Amino acid sequence: MTISFPAGFVWGAATSGYQIEGAPEADGKGASIWDTFVKVPGKILHGDTGARACNTYDPKQLEADMDLMVRLGLKSFIFSVQWPRIQPDGRGGANAKGLDYYRRLVDGLQARGIAPALTLYHWELPQALQDRGGWVNRETVARFVEYATILYDALAAQVPIWVTQNEPHTTAWLGYGYGKHAPGVADEKSVFAVAHHLLLSHGLAVKTLRGRVANVKTAFGPVLNVTPARPVRPDSEHDRLAAKRFDGDQNRLFLDPIFRGEYPADVVEYRREAAGGWKFVRAEDLEIIHTAVDFLGVNYYTPTMIAAGPGDRPEWRPNPGPTTAMGWAIDPAGLHEVLDRVRTEYTGNLPLYVSENGASFRDYLNPEGECRDPERVDFLRGHLREAHRAIEDGVPLAGYFVWSLLDNFEWDSAYRERFGLVYVDYPTQRRVPKSSFEWYREVIERNGLEG
Ligand code: FCB
Repeated sequence: MTISFPAGFVWGAATSGYQIEGAPEADGKGASIWDTFVKVPGKILHGDTGARACNTYDPKQLEADMDLMVRLGLKSFIFSVQWPRIQPDGRGGANAKGLDYYRRLVDGLQARGIAPALTLYHWELPQALQDRGGWVNRETVARFVEYATILYDALAAQVPIWVTQNEPHTTAWLGYGYGKHAPGVADEKSVFAVAHHLLLSHGLAVKTLRGRVANVKTAFGPVLNVTPARPVRPDSEHDRLAAKRFDGDQNRLFLDPIFRGEYPADVVEYRREAAGGWKFVRAEDLEIIHTAVDFLGVNYYTPTMIAAGPGDRPEWRPNPGPTTAMGWAIDPAGLHEVLDRVRTEYTGNLPLYVSENGASFRDYLNPEGECRDPERVDFLRGHLREAHRAIEDGVPLAGYFVWSLLDNFEWDSAYRERFGLVYVDYPTQRRVPKSSFEWYREVIERNGLEG
């Protein structure tokens, strides 16, 4: 039996700038918080950095990778713009050479019939803005909109899909709460101001950009990493409360303001102290955050198991069952759960994308020079079946993007975690399509898969 996706379903793959481009100082690029953070001893596995990564800043490499996308049959490609390539210090006019790189990319995609999907922020804040407080400082919102406007004026005519913020949760919690990601701040008190300013930057960007360029209509939306929060012991009132709190911090803190124009009452209450009384929220902010969008992108990898710690504080527990190399539990049904929940509680008829989904496994080149990754094929197959089931259940799912096209720099895990459909031999920069590449190519060609 074959299951088929709706006509026009958008088959894609996703990447981000710092994880693939390399060339951190080329053509007048300023430093980002990641350029700074990777140099802090002990933060990144083996002390590795994204200084070379997949070398896609190189024009020849970029062309070759876009040709691979054609071979794969991609309909759309998500990439992020590194802000300090455009504004080295996070303010003022455009750095023409930095902009040219993204123009080449967009031209190249267009020429190949692949729809560019541009992410304005996948965590690459100019270091100059971090020196002034980064996302804790409300001024960064205005800077972001200025940067977004430069890009929009330059590229709107060619880029149909605009993602404002990728995973504001990750920036707020991992970047400013736990110090695991750049800028490496570990201060729970900054998390909520950061989340608020990221949300505000999203809303203000949509408000500012929509309709700006005559005769051009583009789609705007945020990308959120929504994860099911599962109580370890569902019959324990404490675990259920802890899971609800985790769901508040992780999911509802972002979904509610964007789609309902308010922060969830229980989060406001529970986090009153950590958020310093929420004094950073001004009268008009929630209306701005609530600005209508054209889609929601959902990144889904794994559910989270939560048990109650002291005071019913949420604590992570390991998931039962098989995991990816990253240690993330493999749970395809969680994708259906998340899509259905978002649709039912928040987005209704709004188109959704699975903007990231994928897995890292211990991929290697065998003596024949092949990279066989049946585990990834199983993973993707399972999740695509669930995505299809969600569509059958009425979820307006418009597309699906695999994370990622290429193996790449996986943040603090550096080059250990391989998420690509294409194996990258880093020292030579040779690309070897994995068996999952061939499998996904067939899925795209058939617009479906075996059920
Ligand atoms: C997501 C990130 C992406 C990548 C994947 C594995 O949270 O958006 O950059 O690291 O996880």
